[in-house]
Amino acid sequence: VDQEIDTLQRACAADPSIVSLAGGLPACQLFPKAKIAASASRAVRRDGDRALQYDWPEGREGLREWISRRLAARGASVSKDDVIITSGAQQALSIAAHLLLGSAGGEPHRRASEGGVALDAETYPGALDIFKARGAVADDARRARCAYVMPAMSNPRGQVMSPAERAGLLSWAAQTGGAILEDDAYAELVFDGEPPAPLLAQDREHVFHVGTFSKTLCPGLRVGWLVMPPKMRALALERKRLVDLQTNGLTQSILEDFLAHDDFGQRLAAARRYYAQGAEALARALRRHLPEAEFNEPKGGFSIWVKLPGTGVDAELLAEAARHGVSFDPGSMFRVRSVARSESPIELRLSYSNEPPRKLDDGVRRLAAAWRGLARHRAH
Ligand SMILES: Cc1ncc(COP(=O)(O)O)c(C=O)c1O
Repeated sequence: VDQEIDTLQRACAADPSIVSLAGGLPACQLFPKAKIAASASRAVRRDGDRALQYDWPEGREGLREWISRRLAARGASVSKDDVIITSGAQQALSIAAHLLLGSAGGEPHRRASEGGVALDAETYPGALDIFKARGAVADDARRARCAYVMPAMSNPRGQVMSPAERAGLLSWAAQTGGAILEDDAYAELVFDGEPPAPLLAQDREHVFHVGTFSKTLCPGLRVGWLVMPPKMRALALERKRLVDLQTNGLTQSILEDFLAHDDFGQRLAAARRYYAQGAEALARALRRHLPEAEFNEPKGGFSIWVKLPGTGVDAELLAEAARHGVSFDPGSMFRVRSVARSESPIELRLSYSNEPPRKLDDGVRRLAAAWRGLARHRAH
């Protein structure tokens, strides 16, 4: 994490007058607070001995069953025993990376020179940190031993992998024995139709599949999952036990109760509608206030990836934006080679997920003023 950017973003997040197009946080309005409170109360009253006791590292059976049923509905025939409940998708990524690439900060089992991880040009910063900490970002994608991908819905671009790319990736794994780390975090938040089948549905030997309740329900529960190739299950469980023994038993119990009482399909439909409206409002605001901006409309998820003409310095634009009352995520956060303080093309991730649609227009208006102000200043 770039310290200057981090400090600026923390200051922006703490200031309620700033319109936040940063962070990619889910909308608090969608958190089912009363229902979670009811589930929490039931979990403690009816299931307290189990919920508050130690549990096995793989996590609660009912939750694993629920997840395997959902994956099966999308074409992946996995059983509850293939699923490990993790502390968010982040821990699932970290466990998979450990199995594939060795420990962070230590000597990777397989050195990056023998092939690290192939990544999209822009990718999820939390995963990037995991790979960087292992010195395992592949210099040459053709020699990578693992590919980290978000086929159903990418972050930051909000796009879907094409059938040709999917087929190419699967055949690369089959031919080279390379692993695919499939991050499905935003899959269920597609705007039109249903999410595509996960790659897991087509390959159980090479695909490590990661999912989460953070985007569809709420991140505070910290519940995600990992499905790994069957021969890696024992190693994955060993790693999970080593890191934290088990995922928080109380939140697992709350979630299991919540899912038993909730219409999750209806919940997803409402969330998709809400975020689709946000995406539309942000795109409209960009066309209105920043017609120079280039972007593709997202197919789902929380954000739009935007390119502005010319070059600039990420940290400078963010500081100027904060002075104008708006924040965003600079493009350098999503790249292997972060250049927060050097001149580079200006790309930004703008999130529509955590501000009501009516504030998005104002946010983009402020951003446009900051960008134009900075350009004028630099011209002199
Ligand atoms: C693509 C992607 N994967 C994983 C995560 C981590 O999610 P979790 O809250 O489940 O750890 C995020 C969170 O922003 C994400 O954007």
